[in-house]
Amino acid sequence: ARQFTVLAIETSADDTGVALVTHDRHIRANVVIKQHAVHEQHGGIHPMYAARLHMRNVPGAVWRALTEAGMAATDVDGIAFTRGPGMPGALGVGATAAKTLAAALNKPLVGVHHMQAHALTAFLTCSPSEAPTYPFLTLLVSGGHTLLLLAYSPKNFRVLATTLDSAVGRVYDKVARMLGIPWGPLGPGAALEAFCAPMPPPDITFTSGSKMRRRMAFSYAGLQSAVQRYIEEPDREAMDDEQRKAIAQAFQRTAVAQLEDKVTLGIRMCQQMDVSVRHVVVSGGVASNEYLRERLRETVARASPDMPIQLVFPPPALCTDNGVMIAWAAMGRFLVGDYDKHIIDLKPEWNI
Ligand code: KG4
Ligand code: ZN
Repeated sequence: ARQFTVLAIETSADDTGVALVTHDRHIRANVVIKQHAVHEQHGGIHPMYAARLHMRNVPGAVWRALTEAGMAATDVDGIAFTRGPGMPGALGVGATAAKTLAAALNKPLVGVHHMQAHALTAFLTCSPSEAPTYPFLTLLVSGGHTLLLLAYSPKNFRVLATTLDSAVGRVYDKVARMLGIPWGPLGPGAALEAFCAPMPPPDITFTSGSKMRRRMAFSYAGLQSAVQRYIEEPDREAMDDEQRKAIAQAFQRTAVAQLEDKVTLGIRMCQQMDVSVRHVVVSGGVASNEYLRERLRETVARASPDMPIQLVFPPPALCTDNGVMIAWAAMGRFLVGDYDKHIIDLKPEWNI
């Protein structure tokens, strides 16, 4: 059969992503344009500037993707876009571009759930023999979400735990700001990781609340205020880099420890429910963090000594937002002819 190529547009937050992906798992183009330099000046993602920058960047990103792949728009077989969840203004830019392309080119259209796409990336990046098998556990950690899910099928996910307050990625961003770590081209979370990377364990410890330990829920507001209180102690007005590094690392340890706890609880819960889980898929922007990857490898090995569970991480660049994951998540629907109409609405708040 002929190749089926999807052009996808992702604009749910601050990254403009446009990609071309074929049904046989080839990434023909992957253009990601970051907006960190602008949002850093506002202390976080500013919704209006995000939308404006997508307006500026989407057309050129589409052009670049087609050029990289050596394709004409008429060679594309389907157009996908992020339907939600995300910031309404930002989502609208990518959705309008995608729908207009689909209408003008007379190509089928599919709107994708951003968090499902994060989880399904694993099927693109794993060889078929290493690909996860349903049901699998998935931990999705991003700027907007902290979710532990049981995936039954590409579109059927059961929420085992979500956050009671902030998302873990957002708290990384806040702590990076409190410590005055420059974002650079990496963005706040990755900049914090790099800032404290080669460092022995610090003597500072933050707790994330003992009541939370056995609960099937995440909570990061307490950790954020603990870090804030620590920094605001009067004798910490003039901290040197070593002290700030120690705080950053103590924060990172506590933040990741909570993810480890919930993954362990999730594995136990599946064992108790007699659901045989062979894979844990970890994705979303925070999953590009190397320390988290290392910790979770140990955690998963410890939680499943008899029946090994495979831990699956998409490559870091495909854990943070990108168009490739949107193209891939739409692929299954294109191949069975399950299309959306051009009038399809956005879902800025969309449960998985
Ligand atoms: O999935 P993503 O790119 O966008 C959303 O869907 O939100 O995730 C972005 C989040 C941001 O909070 C960013 O700071 C964080 O992921 N992040 C990281 C790292 N890379 C990105 N957090 C910790 N360590 C990293 N290396
Ligand atoms: Zn994301």
